[in-house]
Amino acid sequence: NPKDGEIFETINVLDKSALKALLEKYKPTQVYLLAAMLSATGEQYPMKAWDLNMNGLLNVLDLALELGIKKIFWPSSIAVFGPHSPKKDTPQYCVMDPNSIYGISKLAGERLCEYYHNKYGLDIRSVRYPGIISWKTAPGGGTTDYAVHIFFEALKNGKYTSFLSAQTALPMLYMEDAVAGTIALMDAPEEQLTIRSSYNLGGLSFTPAEIAEEIKKILPNFEMSYVENDPRQTIADSWPASIDDTSAQKDWNWKPKFDLQTMTKDMIENLK
Ligand code: SER
Repeated sequence: NPKDGEIFETINVLDKSALKALLEKYKPTQVYLLAAMLSATGEQYPMKAWDLNMNGLLNVLDLALELGIKKIFWPSSIAVFGPHSPKKDTPQYCVMDPNSIYGISKLAGERLCEYYHNKYGLDIRSVRYPGIISWKTAPGGGTTDYAVHIFFEALKNGKYTSFLSAQTALPMLYMEDAVAGTIALMDAPEEQLTIRSSYNLGGLSFTPAEIAEEIKKILPNFEMSYVENDPRQTIADSWPASIDDTSAQKDWNWKPKFDLQTMTKDMIENLK
């Protein structure tokens, strides 16, 4: 009976024997594998990102088969899309040519998930998360993380310098919706699921200029500025601006609650 946020033990997911010992000790029926290196940090350490994102997943997949773990959750990302994918309302199935090591590892991971499901019957479920915005978790090396950092800076210093340009629209999601959606997918009856690679998951889509405007409605003195030529801009430019998540809506009733306005209000109230 873990309490909210309680950590029992910390292990390195790349250490397969430590992972095995942990799983044998607690005998979980489900595993949520969230350990990964995100897009911006991944570009600084490409081989480390590949190793963690791929071999962490393979270790969990293999041990799940070996130990008979019933269900696995593994997150993919909007980073699986690339410069030749449609930008607006990016569909579930289209050209996918990711050019960040993070996106490449997530696309390969999706193929492995589907492979383990088709070949071995493993019940693994996945969504392609957009940028996740949360007041409980500090920004962690992602390209979408400006939309988290901006709130911390707005409250602390009344200003923020965005590393993405004013008009860069990206898909985003508030943490509460992300958690509810993830649990809805994990609770859905198996026969309703039609996608075993990873479900597109949309939510919001906004630009740095739009979120700055929304923050100004609550903090009128907030000032936004922009830097040019940040490497994260190249990553953002290769990603979708918005996502078509019809399959998630149909298969497991996906429906986010928060829009830009309600999210901004909730973020500021809680961060204060
Ligand atoms: N939030 C992630 C990133 O920016 C995308 O999945 O790297």
